[in-house]
Amino acid sequence: MKKRIKVAIDCDDAATDLKGIIFEHLKNSSVDITDLSFSAKGAALYPEIGYNLALKIQAGEYDRGILICGTGLGMAIIANKVEGVYAGVCHDVYSAERLRKSNNAQILTMGARVIGSELAKMIVDAWLRSEFSGGRSQPKVDQIKALEKGSFHPEAL
Ligand code: RB5
Repeated sequence: MKKRIKVAIDCDDAATDLKGIIFEHLKNSSVDITDLSFSAKGAALYPEIGYNLALKIQAGEYDRGILICGTGLGMAIIANKVEGVYAGVCHDVYSAERLRKSNNAQILTMGARVIGSELAKMIVDAWLRSEFSGGRSQPKVDQIKALEKGSFHPEAL
């Protein structure tokens, strides 16, 4: 039997409604969804909320994460600051698939002020059913990991 993946979700105050819709959408799906609701602990700003979730991905507490703010941009920027954690903003289904297949990103971010809830659900579903392809994408993600380890020295630079 396929392992149920553990997915964490969180948002800032710009995205409370959309987060609720995505949480409900995933509640009875094939994944285990947890709403971290970090803002309930006094965290209000997207950097602290996004960082909290990204650290949990880094620690292996969750396999994947969904972060929603007004644009998805701030959440992606902060999540990508955590070593070994990769996030991308997606507002279309093709990018959502590629974010897994090409980029092997564990975190999907979206902007509640950018897309509607039906498209957001389709994006989440496409991202969740996609896996990293390896192959020609492998050396590319390896270069990003090398940069984190201080061993990325492209000849052309
Ligand atoms: C509002 O705080 C807005 O800046 C935030 O939700 C997000 O869009 C940032 O990238």
